[in-house]
Amino acid sequence: MISLTLHEIHPATILPQSLMGFNVYLSNGEGERPVKFLSSEKMVDETDYDQLRENANLKVFIDATSLAEYREYLVAHSSKWLTDERLPSRLRTALLLECLVAKWQSAFSSSSTDTTIDVAKEISERLVLSIEFLDVRIPDVIQALDMGIDLARHSLRTAIYCGLLGNSMGYDGTVLNELCMGGLLHDIGKQSNGESFKSAGPENDRSMRAHPLFGFRRLCNSRNVTTTVLMMCYQHHENLDGSGFPVRLIGDEIHFGAKICAIVNRFDHLTSSENPRMAYTCGSAGRIMEQDRSNRFDQEIMKTWLKLLKSHLKNS
Ligand SMILES: [Fe+2]
Ligand SMILES: [Fe+2]
Repeated sequence: MISLTLHEIHPATILPQSLMGFNVYLSNGEGERPVKFLSSEKMVDETDYDQLRENANLKVFIDATSLAEYREYLVAHSSKWLTDERLPSRLRTALLLECLVAKWQSAFSSSSTDTTIDVAKEISERLVLSIEFLDVRIPDVIQALDMGIDLARHSLRTAIYCGLLGNSMGYDGTVLNELCMGGLLHDIGKQSNGESFKSAGPENDRSMRAHPLFGFRRLCNSRNVTTTVLMMCYQHHENLDGSGFPVRLIGDEIHFGAKICAIVNRFDHLTSSENPRMAYTCGSAGRIMEQDRSNRFDQEIMKTWLKLLKSHLKNS
């Protein structure tokens, strides 16, 4: 028997009348062995599509060796999904994120910093438009991007949270683009640190503490990187009480973009499945942050974030 390494994909990315070009597997719930559902040459018909839509417990997989084909398929169909107003906004958000993950993963792992920055710029502009027009909601973002543990997904979630929080604080246009871009690039130093796409180690680990500086060095010579983006990368682990790193800045020595990034970065580490001991719900993570008496975070920005979180949870 051949054993396959499977990669979970979002069921909604399988469209009727499309040719996937790779095998698709289904499992009916926790612990059940996935079985082949579609072969690479078969067109998805309406019956296949209905089967996927009607069973919320189904998990869909592809062979991990088909990831490159899957990403091509996502990008090829992205405009069809994103402009289809019959699809609920929630679903379009999930699909948008799947496409962006595909694009961001290859850009982030590229050895060219310029390529990574260009793609970050393009994605940030797209995210800002989505935040404004697609009704992107925090629980949906978590759900859509919490499959897998890699740094690309953490970066994208951080970018969206930075955009949503910035928007709630009254920023728009260029500043929102910068906040999204800073969120995408904030951990780029982990890549030059030889840690690409691994989960972060303990905070006191020496290489972990060096990643803001590595990131700063990578970005500082690019003319497309503004001060806000650069400072989000360099200062996102600084704490207001001077207990952070790399240079133990205090209070308003820390750039406002980095203060925003620090709060949403903390939220993402609490809620993502990157660390199985955490993986809190949005509500629990919000309560943990609300009860944090450490003075590490900017309290005004924190209040806006908690308010935003509560309003999204109330509408869930
Ligand atoms: Fe970081
Ligand atoms: Fe981070």
